[in-house]
Amino acid sequence: MPTITWQEMFSVGVERIDSQHKELIRWINELEKSLKAEPTDEPVRSVLTSLISYTEYHFDSEEELMRLNDYPQYIRHKVAHDKLKLQVRSMQARFAKGDRVSANELLAFLSDWLVEHILSTDTLFGEKLRSRSGGLAT
Ligand SMILES: [Fe+2]
Repeated sequence: MPTITWQEMFSVGVERIDSQHKELIRWINELEKSLKAEPTDEPVRSVLTSLISYTEYHFDSEEELMRLNDYPQYIRHKVAHDKLKLQVRSMQARFAKGDRVSANELLAFLSDWLVEHILSTDTLFGEKLRSRSGGLAT
């Protein structure tokens, strides 16, 4: 699984979202490192917990921005976030029950999902925000 590196094409043009995406990428890379380096569960469990709570914080933050700006695709975008949250939570539960494969699956799944989601769904939101007359509510 390759480490994700931030690239300019990931930018959605809204500072708050970009910096949160960078932080998410950092946590994904931390998870990768802990899976490679640590033979024990605890570091993986701890990074997993941080990654998941940061993901949820980030989604809440994006959704708040959508509501503040009356984003027309809000529901559709929120459904994508909710679905991801459920999938991630179920992988975390499997890990907690001793399924060690789930952490690697989660890493692969989340990296692919994040890049895809940023490039498609979040970019659309960023464009809409930037095109709003009267400035952004950020
Ligand atoms: Fe999003």
